[in-house]
Formats: sequence, structure tokens, C-alpha cells
Amino acid sequence: MSTHINNDAKFAKTVLMPGDPLRAKYIAEHYLKDYKEVTSVRGILGYTGKTSEGKEISVMASGMGIPSIGIYSYELFNEYGVENIIRIGTCGAYQKEVHVGDVILATSACSNSNYASQFDLKGGVLAPCSDFSLLLKAYENSKKLGINTHVGPIFSSDIFYDADKDYYKKWQALGVLGVEMESYGLFINAMRLHKKALCILTVSDTFVNDEEELTQIERQTSLDKMFRLALTLAE
Ligand code: HPA
Repeated sequence: MSTHINNDAKFAKTVLMPGDPLRAKYIAEHYLKDYKEVTSVRGILGYTGKTSEGKEISVMASGMGIPSIGIYSYELFNEYGVENIIRIGTCGAYQKEVHVGDVILATSACSNSNYASQFDLKGGVLAPCSDFSLLLKAYENSKKLGINTHVGPIFSSDIFYDADKDYYKKWQALGVLGVEMESYGLFINAMRLHKKALCILTVSDTFVNDEEELTQIERQTSLDKMFRLALTLAE
């Protein structure tokens, strides 16, 4: 049985996965009905409840980084019958047209992580990506909700405080939209286990524009867009 999640926990087919445990709690408290805390091992909070339309959904934190989301998504997919994991996180923007507060739908994740080395691909590389059916549904639902999105590749970095402050320019030149630290691991686990994953991000900071960080209220409003969109993906 799972070592990192409460063994008795019941999860819905679809799990929304923010990085921060308190964000998981916030989503349960503000967006779910009839919800119950199902796990709190190591402070990684998870909840199962219903959307306002009565569909079953869970929300559980991933913690920070590929190793952490690698553990939790593997156990959810492998031991709790979860079929879809939708990461809902924040990212730093790499492109001028991507502004703080905007929403990104990640088509794929580039990385400097060695997470795929476990498969011994003899020099081959994986191309970890969002599940197309989830991506399409998220895109269509974003239009219905009037939420503008940027759709494209992101970079999942193993390093937050990079010693080379210009490193991002290499990914920027390749058209990568922004940087976070988890999706590559999630997408690879979904590939490995034949499950579905999607990543929706809100831009919290930018490497290229001279933009103010969001105020607390603006931050909440832009996160709210992403949460409402993610909740439409409950089955
Ligand atoms: N770097 C890495 N991860 C992030 C960032 C960032 O600037 N912003 C939000 N998640």
C-alpha cells in the first residue's frame, strides 16, 4: 500500500493538484460541497467532494518539485484508481506576451531533470505532454468561461535559484512560455501508467516584462479563473 498517502483515503477519478497544501484546503473550502479531508500525511492535504454541479472531484497537494509530484501522482494513479490528474500551479513567464495573472494550458513540458533516466532509453528522449482530450476540453471550456489562455510548451526546472541568471534565455529563444517545477514528472508518470494528465498554470511572476507582482486580491482573482476552469474537468 501507499507509503505517502492515507491508506483509507478515497479519491475521485479526477484529482486537481496544486503544489501548496493550503491551496488544496482553500479550494475544498471555497469550491467543493460535501467534502471531506482524506489525507494529511506529511502535511500533504487531500480532499474529496463534489463540484457545484454534483460531480465527484478530489484535490490534493503535490508539494514542490518533480520528485515530490513524482511520488504523489504515482501513488494516486497506481493505488487509488485515479485516472486524471490536473496540475493547477503557478509559473514564471518567459515570453513578452505572457503577463502576470494570465492562464497557460501546457501542451508539453521540457526539463533539465533526469527523471526519465529510469527508463534507460539509450540516448532517446521522452516528449512528455498533456493528454489531448483533457487539453481540448480545458481549451473549449476556457472559451465558454471567457478565460483567455496561452497554449504551448513550458519548462519544468529542477532549480529555482539558478546560478546562471541568463539560463532562461535558452528556453525563451525556443518559444517556451514559462517555468514551473512539476509538470514533467507528472506527464511522465501518466505516460508510464497509461493515465491522463494536464497542467494549467497561472502566471505569478515574469522574467521578461517589468511588471508588478500581483496584489493579494489580484492573485486570488487570477487563481480563481484557473480553479473554475479546472473544476469543469470533473467527470
Ligand atoms: N520559477 C520556477 N517555478 C516557479 C516560478 C519561477 O519563477 N514561479 C512560479 N513557479
